[in-house]
Amino acid sequence: MSDVSGVNRQFLLAARPEGMVKESDFEYTETAIPELADGQVLIKTTYISLDPSMRGQMENRADYVAPLAIGDVMRAGGTGEVVASNNPDYPAGTRVQGTFGMQEYCVSDGKTPPFKVFADDIEPTQALGVLGGTGMTAYFGLLDLGEPKAGDMVVISGAAGATGSVAGQIAKIKGCTVVGMAGSDEKCNWLTGELGFDAAINYKTQDVGAELDRLCADGINIYFDNVGGEILDLCLARIATNARVVICGGISRYNLSGPIPGPKNYFNLVFRRARMEGFIVLDYAARFPEAVREMQGWINEGRLRQSVTVIDGFAQLPQALIQLFAGANTGKMMVKVT
Ligand SMILES: NC(=O)c1ccc[n+]([C@@H]2O[C@H](COP(=O)([O-])OP(=O)(O)OC[C@H]3O[C@@H](n4cnc5c(N)ncnc54)[C@H](OP(=O)(O)O)[C@@H]3O)[C@@H](O)[C@H]2O)c1
Repeated sequence: MSDVSGVNRQFLLAARPEGMVKESDFEYTETAIPELADGQVLIKTTYISLDPSMRGQMENRADYVAPLAIGDVMRAGGTGEVVASNNPDYPAGTRVQGTFGMQEYCVSDGKTPPFKVFADDIEPTQALGVLGGTGMTAYFGLLDLGEPKAGDMVVISGAAGATGSVAGQIAKIKGCTVVGMAGSDEKCNWLTGELGFDAAINYKTQDVGAELDRLCADGINIYFDNVGGEILDLCLARIATNARVVICGGISRYNLSGPIPGPKNYFNLVFRRARMEGFIVLDYAARFPEAVREMQGWINEGRLRQSVTVIDGFAQLPQALIQLFAGANTGKMMVKVT
């Protein structure tokens, strides 16, 4: 029995998005808080993560995770606290993170949905951001695929976002020269001022090709791509010999419908003896603890910072996802469940 009373607020998938995600693609509902069976715990969500990949999961296509059915609780990562427990391994008060969905309460037996307990010295916002999925993406994408060496010229798109801002800082720690691209002067100033990037390009107002020519005259050794599209093409045209092009994401295409053109300049990979490789961070799960340890060290030394954009209020969830695609976030976008 759960002695927690009240309702469980939820957002369900109401419609497959066409073009940009809309509020009408979500349905708000309230259900009873479920009773607990033996071995189960009741988790109250505290923060819910907004991720570009949620757009793909709303479509009806098989991917690296199963698509959602209409009427399903929207899938989302989050942090929470056990508020009632029929499982001695997870007493009330245990702080956890997992795929709890866009809902205020979630029942789990620890396996479905799976969750992990996070340490006392980790903040929930860190567990979702710099030490969570996007931090792990930056770490393994840059280090395993990018293989940075001191002196490398590293270019990062989506640089002021959760993944890009961490990838750029790790590249600086490794002794690289780092150029970030972001969608506002404010974000660009933050990258060069607070995060120590060497330069930043506002891709919305500046001539990206001309800026890359100016800043990366000897070519790009690592391009960490979060956006795809024209920016990928402009970078492919400027790669150095033996460059590594890390395909992390392609947000410029996520809200497009119809056939999407491939990069025109891919053949430069041949001329430059370069490598272009995609990855899915979940494949690195067994190595997350090693990455968290190293990144905590950098945080403690003041060499790695995280920025979060926290939107207050459960009701804001659909709008927060829409705003993620509009670039309203600096660093990790999340909703605080209040
Ligand atoms: N491979 C993996 O395992 C993996 C794991 C996690 C994330 N990812 C990918 O990594 C990328 C970043 O994800 P994140 O969670 O860190 O999100 P994020 O970068 O924090 O947020 C998305 C940012 O993308 C920018 N953006 C939106 N539309 C754009 C467009 N048309 N062209 C260029 N930039 C655009 C916006 O910033 P501006 O103001 O700069 O436009 C926005 O703030 C995404 O593509 C995501 O799918 C991949």
